[in-house]
Amino acid sequence: MRLDFTFPKYLALGYLAVVIVVLSTVSVFLGLGWTVDRVHATQNGYRGTGMDQVKWPAAERALKAANVVPEALDPASPEGDKATDVYQNVQVLKDLSAEQFGRVMSSITEWVAPDEGCGYCHNVENMADDSLYTKKVARRMLEMTRHINNDWKAHVANTGVTCYTCHKGNPVPANIWFADPSPQKDAGVMATNDGMGHPNKTNGSSSLPRDPLSPLLFGKEPIRVAGTTGLPSKPYGASIQSTEQTYSLMMHMSASLGVNCTFCHNTRSFSDWADSTPQRMTAWHGIQMARDLNGSYLDPLKGVYPPNRLGPLGDAPKVSCATCHQGANKPLLGVSMAKDFPELGGVPAK
Ligand code: HEC
Ligand code: HEC
Ligand code: HEC
Ligand code: HEC
Repeated sequence: MRLDFTFPKYLALGYLAVVIVVLSTVSVFLGLGWTVDRVHATQNGYRGTGMDQVKWPAAERALKAANVVPEALDPASPEGDKATDVYQNVQVLKDLSAEQFGRVMSSITEWVAPDEGCGYCHNVENMADDSLYTKKVARRMLEMTRHINNDWKAHVANTGVTCYTCHKGNPVPANIWFADPSPQKDAGVMATNDGMGHPNKTNGSSSLPRDPLSPLLFGKEPIRVAGTTGLPSKPYGASIQSTEQTYSLMMHMSASLGVNCTFCHNTRSFSDWADSTPQRMTAWHGIQMARDLNGSYLDPLKGVYPPNRLGPLGDAPKVSCATCHQGANKPLLGVSMAKDFPELGGVPAK
């Protein structure tokens, strides 16, 4: 009688085992299929180094949709009357023909103020008048754009930028930043945590310092923090605080480009340049460029803007990696608009 009870019990266990094996095999295959279908991974280091970039097709489609480039107006002839012969108050675009000048005006309207039109920068009764702050800012923007395209090829290559790269049809670009005081900075010795624990857009939603950009993309404080000797030795290296700033900036750079750390680094040694990718060198030039643009072009405009455009500490709006990149490893996914705009220092179309 005993056997009669135990035998079906073993049988039931056997069936259970078969079901488990079948189910787990099916789910492994489903899982694999799911992953292969959805994730697009590229390897940008030797195998085994884990230097992969993982992209989700849905996110890639969204990025593509957000980076549709407007068509360029027909080229304008550099011959004929100069803009300075025809107009009264041309201070920057002095080298252009009147035809090229008109092309620039139409294009910047489309790129920066499509809804507002010429009147966003002009007193339309008198186009030569400089009374609107927007015109004065735009004049400096013209100089800045030419400077980027001519003098920062180490970063922007021949791809270059136009106003659209940052503005994308908005008078105020979507990604600007101001000095962001820590709410606890003035709360005495006990409460200074260096702006930690405030996840925001700048620090890649981490709890690292909330404003790494003031010291590192406007100020010129050192970013390298790793020790260069086996044991601590004098002079002792970077403080914990500046190390936190560095990591916060790295989060900012990764988030701005839509990549992870291994786009630039081999995590075996973050500091080692020989192990890093070529993109790290490009990024280094990007850091120098951002400091230059903020220091020489954007911050000095603080006297020109109305008070409502300034930050909580009275500083002018500035650029970060996100201002141009907006989540793409190359702004506008690498499409060059500048090549169609020799007027803005882009390489002329062949
Ligand atoms: C985003 C700002 C902006 C917009 C929008 C804009 N302009 Fe201008 N415009 C400027 C700036 C800056 C100058 C001065 C350029 C210089 O000094 O080289 C200027 C100068 C001019 C001048 C020369 C005036 C003179 O006599 O000195 C004309 C004409 C002109 N713009 C026409 C237009 C027209 C037409 C539109 C609309 C299709 C337009 N602009 C839209 C910024 C703008
Ligand atoms: C590298 C990024 C970048 C490029 C390229 C750029 N801008 Fe700007 N622009 C900015 C930033 C940052 C501001 C400050 C935003 C603000 O005004 O609050 C700004 C502000 C402006 C404003 C003032 C808007 C306002 O209402 O306060 C005008 C006008 C303008 N830009 C025109 C231009 C024109 C025209 C070009 C191309 C010749 C251009 N910009 C290229 C980043 C850029
Ligand atoms: C787009 C390229 C890029 C990305 C992405 C990036 N870094 Fe960096 N990283 C750099 C550059 C460039 C420097 C050197 C800056 C300098 O020398 O001024 C650097 C420096 C560092 C340093 C200091 C090394 C030293 O010599 O002390 C550390 C640590 C670091 N990165 C960590 C990270 C981490 C962690 C991430 C991901 C959250 C990351 N980085 C993402 C480009 C990048
Ligand atoms: C003025 C606009 C602008 C700003 C600001 C900017 N970049 Fe770029 N960046 C570009 C352009 C344009 C390219 C494409 C160059 C090319 O086609 O090779 C680029 C390319 C790069 C690349 C190479 C990507 C690749 O796939 O090879 C890296 C890395 C990079 N930028 C990092 C940064 C970092 C980090 C910052 C901030 C410190 C920054 N950039 C700020 C315009 C900008």
